Amino acid sequence: MDDSYKIHLSEAEMPQEWYNLIPDLPVPFPPYLHPATGEPITPQDLAPIFPMELIMQEVSPERWIAIPDEVQRIYKLWRPSPLHRARNLEKALGTPARIYYKNESVSPAGSHKPNTAVAQAYYNKAAGMKRLATETGAGQWGCALALACNFFDLECTVYMVKVSYYQKPYRRSLMHIWGAEVSPSPGDRTQAGRAILAQDPETSGSLGMAISEAVEDAATHADTNYSLGSVLNHVMLHQTIVGLEVKKQLALAGEEPDILIGCVGGGSNFAGFSFPFIPDKLKGKDIRFIAVEPAACPTLTRGTYTYDFGDTAGLTPLTLMYTLGHTFVPPGIHAGGLRYHGDAPLLCLLVHEKVIEARAYIQNPVFEAARLFAETEGIIPAPETAHAVKAAVDEARICKETGQAKCIVFNFSGHGHFDLAAYDAFLEGQLQDVETDPGEMIQQALANLPKLPGK
Ligand SMILES: Cc1ncc(COP(=O)(O)O)c(C=O)c1O
Repeated sequence: MDDSYKIHLSEAEMPQEWYNLIPDLPVPFPPYLHPATGEPITPQDLAPIFPMELIMQEVSPERWIAIPDEVQRIYKLWRPSPLHRARNLEKALGTPARIYYKNESVSPAGSHKPNTAVAQAYYNKAAGMKRLATETGAGQWGCALALACNFFDLECTVYMVKVSYYQKPYRRSLMHIWGAEVSPSPGDRTQAGRAILAQDPETSGSLGMAISEAVEDAATHADTNYSLGSVLNHVMLHQTIVGLEVKKQLALAGEEPDILIGCVGGGSNFAGFSFPFIPDKLKGKDIRFIAVEPAACPTLTRGTYTYDFGDTAGLTPLTLMYTLGHTFVPPGIHAGGLRYHGDAPLLCLLVHEKVIEARAYIQNPVFEAARLFAETEGIIPAPETAHAVKAAVDEARICKETGQAKCIVFNFSGHGHFDLAAYDAFLEGQLQDVETDPGEMIQQALANLPKLPGK
């Protein structure tokens, strides 16, 4: 092992294929049902809002899927991203653990999200689309898709969750610079938005609501498709470029991971980083996978494993996942990208099968860990990313107690340069520690779970 702080790959070493986990899964995997019939959905059911190439990737049995040249060309603007050894953090913690982080904050939009945004924009352009409609939580995904649409000369409409629209004005500015149109969700542009507002005019919004608006927009315009920033299999697939690079970089450092950590919103960040390592675990390697979520929106740790809608209005297929109920509106925490009632079916399956463990944290300790990271490593984590930082710090502290020199690797999914109001609130002691009580809001939302036809 050397004593460097950064492990770089050359452009020539960038993976040229994405890794599809579906062929490795321990059980059959039919996660989507048609809400009207209760039968598995067909590619034709998805065709009104997605291009066929992406639909085929969604159900592909192929292990490797080639990354198109044009996508690789754009990836090379920031990829391969560096893997850092967090030596200063290790020293501050006094831990024998070796801590590494994969730095996805170096993308132009500041997070992992462009890895799939660029691919999705490419396939939609190739299918003749003129415009993409999407939702965004904290704005990271909206920025990534705006950037990608800008590269492929597509129009972009972003429904931004209302609480974040006002909390994160500069993410809106980024989207505007890249040519996207942004509106607060729920709003009056769509029937779904108007119906939600009629019921609750003061709602802070949620990803589930914004998805309803974007899906409706795409479904009602022939020249427009819908683009989702997480959850779906093809999104996980595109993000595996992250984990594939990490594998190569750890090998260069002479390391094998003991613990892999990532935060979870819809799951693509965690999945992209960790899925290339899952077959190693299934073959018996001793690796722990830790998925981290906010206690305010504890989908994996307190949700129910069942079929539910991916959006509030019930426009999406029924998806087998951990869910807090599609009508659940999470408290307006600053990690806006982690406020989703469900999670990727692939990730949920692996949590359900106990291949991956999940944990939830409240806000203030998460920001405390983020501050320690900023003080030692210099980079300010996005509030979402800070959840992974906190888990890495906790695991490194356990190593200090036990004296074990474990190799801990986490995905640094994004920087927090546009989340500084959240840091101000933290520094001023004004951050609320919200823990969602499953006895109240969640039980109400779970009571609204869809009934499966014929079941
Ligand atoms: C910086 C950052 N990290 C992680 C996430 C969670 O991403 P995912 O939905 O892929 O789990 C988000 C979501 O917006 C994000 O902005």
